Amino acid sequence: MNYIRSRLGLKLFLSYLVVLLVGVSVIWVTTRLATPRAYARHLAYMEEQMGSSGFGTMMGQGQGQGQGQGQGRGMMADFYENFQASFNEALFVAVVAAAIVAVIVSWLLTRNIVSPVQAMMSASQRISAGHYDERVHSSGSDEIAQLAARFNQMASQLEQVETMRRQLIGDVTHELRTPLTSIKGYMEGLVDGVLPASAETFDQIHHEADRLSRLVDDLQELSRVESKAYSLDVRPITVSSLVQTLLKRLSPQATAKRISLRSDLPADLEPVLADEDRITQVLVNLAANAIQYTPEGGEVVVSAVRRENEIQISVKDSGIGIPAEHLTNLFTRFYRVDKSRSRNAGGGSGIGLTIARHLVEAHGGRIWAESVGEGQGSTFTFSLKTAS
Ligand SMILES: Nc1ncnc2c1ncn2[C@@H]1O[C@H](COP(=O)(O)OP(=O)(O)OP(=O)(O)O)[C@@H](O)[C@H]1O
Ligand SMILES: [Mg+2]
Repeated sequence: MNYIRSRLGLKLFLSYLVVLLVGVSVIWVTTRLATPRAYARHLAYMEEQMGSSGFGTMMGQGQGQGQGQGQGRGMMADFYENFQASFNEALFVAVVAAAIVAVIVSWLLTRNIVSPVQAMMSASQRISAGHYDERVHSSGSDEIAQLAARFNQMASQLEQVETMRRQLIGDVTHELRTPLTSIKGYMEGLVDGVLPASAETFDQIHHEADRLSRLVDDLQELSRVESKAYSLDVRPITVSSLVQTLLKRLSPQATAKRISLRSDLPADLEPVLADEDRITQVLVNLAANAIQYTPEGGEVVVSAVRRENEIQISVKDSGIGIPAEHLTNLFTRFYRVDKSRSRNAGGGSGIGLTIARHLVEAHGGRIWAESVGEGQGSTFTFSLKTAS
């Protein structure tokens, strides 16, 4: 019984058989019950139609009426038996033929239903064993075909997540290895006496360790943002207050590099719908980049403009610029235009813009970069919905 319960195909097959047997029994019983009555009725009708003239004469051939009728009834009984035998034979043949056809049809139907389910079962086993490229083939548009399509969709999403996971581990390993190799190199130099135990050497080591800890912090933030493990506290807020916070926070950095950091906002700008902390983080990431990638004496301007029902906030710098082919990739994690340049210029890890993109998109906005070319500055813009 348990074997039957665990096999969808067998269950369907048996249910078809039960239906079939019930149908056949009903045909059988009904004909057995109905035939004698129907026959008697027809006989009585026949007798009435033929009356005394025809019926007796036909059956008796010139003998007395009573005798003729007696003989006629005997023949009628024979006739009825023959009729019943031939009827039963025909019925038997029909029932056998119907049963064979029904069994074949049941088997075909069952196989049709069960084979895609079995395919999905074995595919899911292979997927759980790590073969994420596994798919099931299905045709038609019934529930089973829809299930197969959903199954394939799920499999391709799993495959994507797995690819991203592998890529992330590869990227993180690569990023962690660089500062660790430096620290190890300095330590070996110190042990071997190749490097002097000076403040400068220790400073270098500290710098690398600092880079490592910043990277770990950034990765933690990235994983939080990518997995959407945070809540947004969206409220109407003025762009000018966001920019004020930004200027206050980054002015020391800009001043240290002799860069002029200023805002250029229209007076009548509507408030935007934003989570203050998160959008401040976006602005800080953009403006910190602008300061980092602009040579001394340059300029960074934060501006905003209304376009239909959104406000576009831009951070424009007069820095090193970005070649056109890199513009769309900047928002991908660990992407840097020139890896060695970033490292020498303070050790960016290529996460800042990825975090900014996630945060802006969580607000329902977009973010993009523009640059005329190398050495001609860059502009990073993101959009937010207006509160009104
Ligand atoms: N204003 C800019 N001017 C020129 N290049 C830029 C600018 N902003 C970003 N980039 C380029 O985009 C890359 C990615 O920026 P992102 O902020 O994501 O990473 P990062 O600054 O290298 O490191 P971090 O994660 O510490 O911010 C940078 O490495 C740099 O090559
Ligand atoms: Mg950055």
